[in-house]
Amino acid sequence: MLPNVARRSVVRGVGGYLPPKCITNADLATNLDTTDEWIVERTGMKQRHVLADGQNTSDLAAEAAKLALADAGFDVQTIDLIVVATVTPDHPFPATAARVQAKIGASKAFAFDVNAVCSGFIYALSVADQYLKTGMAKRVLVIGADAMSKIVDWNDRATAVLFGDGAGALVLEAVDESHVDYERGIHSTHLFSDGCHYDLLYVNTDLATAAQPGHVHMQGREIFKSAIKLIGEAVETVLSSNNITIADIDWFVPHQANLRIIEGISVHFKIPMEKMVVTVDRHSNTSAATIPLALWEAARDGRIQKNHQVVLEAMGGGLTWASALVKW
Ligand SMILES: CC(C)(COP(=O)(O)OP(=O)(O)OC[C@H]1O[C@@H](n2cnc3c(N)ncnc32)[C@H](O)[C@@H]1OP(=O)(O)O)[C@@H](O)C(=O)NCCC(=O)NCCS
Repeated sequence: MLPNVARRSVVRGVGGYLPPKCITNADLATNLDTTDEWIVERTGMKQRHVLADGQNTSDLAAEAAKLALADAGFDVQTIDLIVVATVTPDHPFPATAARVQAKIGASKAFAFDVNAVCSGFIYALSVADQYLKTGMAKRVLVIGADAMSKIVDWNDRATAVLFGDGAGALVLEAVDESHVDYERGIHSTHLFSDGCHYDLLYVNTDLATAAQPGHVHMQGREIFKSAIKLIGEAVETVLSSNNITIADIDWFVPHQANLRIIEGISVHFKIPMEKMVVTVDRHSNTSAATIPLALWEAARDGRIQKNHQVVLEAMGGGLTWASALVKW
């Protein structure tokens, strides 16, 4: 029986990785019936990074993990759990987390994947938080990694322009209530699903028939409307659960699916855009990687600082939606 001690999961390191190959809107317009103007106006996206030949999702995740470990200053052998949020695993099995474990040499860890599509990183963070709070793990690598370029139909202008590849990682460490950092860390996570709306956003690969590889299918307008409503619910929940208001928050790190969705949330909650961390213009939608990549960017350039209150929110296929409050 583990002793009943209150613990908090504190962020010790952050890392990110974008593959070097970059595709601009103008590049897309050479093969698709689209324009830079349309993509920028409707999505805010200007470019996206995609896998190079020979690269796979676990390669992106491993690079982000190495940077997060270096940032934390932790020996890889002290990591006891790796959770990877992904919908684009290297293979149906083994888990991409196990591939990352081998690539970074984290031989003392156990490793598994979480699939909650674009909400995946917050789901993975929540899972890691439970292991840390119960004492089942002391140090955890949480990674959001996706290579959406593997599953979009590059001939479909309605989806091909929206996605990109990348990975971001956090190193979390459990501290108990006697520790000086106990007030920092993950204060709450809130996870929601509604499987009835599966047809709004899905990949039509059928492993039973495996006739041919499937692609992302999306009812864009419906997803857009759902996003504003469901993200709103997730943000309201995280604020009320922690008894705080928008004014108490230093940074909002939203999932990056569309600049217009982020602006919609900003208007609805009267959150100044200066408090929103935005990467969608340069990364496009990297699914589970958007939030940790944005955290990496904003921590590296000095916007997010120690003790800042950071709200994370996301919505994606499933449908799934989620939020979290992290004191950095
Ligand atoms: C996909 C999205 C950008 C489309 O923007 P929109 O303003 O809703 O545009 P619509 O889908 O209504 O399409 C408007 C027109 O643009 C066209 N269009 C679609 N993609 C286009 C493209 N890449 N280039 C040019 N025209 C395009 C459509 O065919 C449609 O033409 P029509 O009016 O002749 O029928 C937007 O709906 C969106 O971002 N949805 C949410 C996406 C999301 O969050 N996905 C991930 C969830 S994690």
